[in-house]
Amino acid sequence: MSLANSPDPALREAVVRQDLDNVLHPIVQHKLLETKQMVVAGGQGATIYDADGTSYLDAMAGLWCVNIGYGRTELADVAADQMRQLSYFPHTAMNVPAAGLAEKVNALMGGGYHTYFVNSGSEANEAGFKFARQYMKHEYPGQYRFKTISRYFSYHGTTLSTLDAGGMGERKAKFEPFSGDFVHVAQPYCYRCPFGLSYPSCELACVKNMENTILGEGPETVAEVIVEPVMSGVGVAVPPDEYLPEVEKLCREYGILLHIDEVINGFGRTGKMFAHQHYGVAPDLVAIAKGISSAYMPIAATVVKNSVFDSFYGDAADNRQVMQVNTYGGHPAAAAVALRNIEIMEAEKLVERSADVGAYLLDGLRTLMRHKIVGDVRGKGLLLGVELVKDRTTKQPVDASVITQIVDFCRDNGVIVGRAGGGRRYGNTITLSPPLVITRAECDRLVDTLDRALATLR
Ligand SMILES: Cc1ncc(COP(=O)(O)O)c(C=O)c1O
Repeated sequence: MSLANSPDPALREAVVRQDLDNVLHPIVQHKLLETKQMVVAGGQGATIYDADGTSYLDAMAGLWCVNIGYGRTELADVAADQMRQLSYFPHTAMNVPAAGLAEKVNALMGGGYHTYFVNSGSEANEAGFKFARQYMKHEYPGQYRFKTISRYFSYHGTTLSTLDAGGMGERKAKFEPFSGDFVHVAQPYCYRCPFGLSYPSCELACVKNMENTILGEGPETVAEVIVEPVMSGVGVAVPPDEYLPEVEKLCREYGILLHIDEVINGFGRTGKMFAHQHYGVAPDLVAIAKGISSAYMPIAATVVKNSVFDSFYGDAADNRQVMQVNTYGGHPAAAAVALRNIEIMEAEKLVERSADVGAYLLDGLRTLMRHKIVGDVRGKGLLLGVELVKDRTTKQPVDASVITQIVDFCRDNGVIVGRAGGGRRYGNTITLSPPLVITRAECDRLVDTLDRALATLR
């Protein structure tokens, strides 16, 4: 029996007990779970169902990932068919779905790329760091290029290296010290420009800061720059249009690889298949995850430009091959599901829909500026943020408790919204990243719920 179809309070209570006694959950405080929990039992489109029958409009697509929406049972059939054919074999050999998926990704990237499969966004970025280092060992044999330049307030994953690459002090504090191989520069967060400047008169001081850092570190020690085109974690910071092309220019000038994190931004989230395609750049390394399978299966990948691929190519005696293996990389069932997921996105034109419905939602969210506490509303496609401040002139962030109040009000009224991961200082943005199938009527409901939530703060 499915708890989603027939709510059963006694069974739900038993699951809660079983969970509390046995599960260790990520990032939530267990003590809070003892009084309030969700037991997610099913989903359809942009809606999820608690086992008690309560429904929620999920304006975060899970963890920014269920791009095609919930309830696509055809993907269960795809996985089952593939498991009946071949459940698993290591990807040192070839398999049908992974080859097809890599070909599809290459086409979506515009050609000229090879794909290395892993299981999560963290692993995809981690493999990117390693590929960059190995590439530099091959291409600059006399040099020691190992550093990654990344931005403060970025998030690139949960492993030690990806956490180190990220720039969120509060997330890192309990695990320090780190290696020091990741050097941080200013983030292009125009609403709160770290230099106190305004675009365009700033003349992209953040890019100058990056160049100064590269020169200060010594370009011959730098392997790559990692950037997420639209910074999601800090509250959906959309950079000026010239930012990414200028970063690419720096990379080319100093022989540094450009590593783009498309873990959230990719697969239609920002209104293009990949966010870097808004800016006309050609990255050397690209981390993809989440939307690649809309989280129907855990799968991710590091996509490498053929110039990087060529550096790993040679005779066995050259010892240039990729020096790592992931047990589940290229998993046939996950690859088959991801490929069908992308085909669904294409057939239903969900990328175009993201641009279209995203613009509609952004317009709706802008009406929230009538609440003085709303400092800024921004977004690209269906990746959006509503930043709350104590005062529009000083832009002082609201206290974390205010964001909690908004998130809780929305949840109590059947809508799930997110909050930026910037910690106590920059956690003051409500984040929205709904399934790309969200309807205009659901967008209206989302805006109305936020409007009512904000009204409670008066
Ligand atoms: C931009 C970005 N990169 C990387 C990751 C890490 O992905 P995963 O949680 O699949 O390891 C995340 C996770 O949210 C992310 O937001």
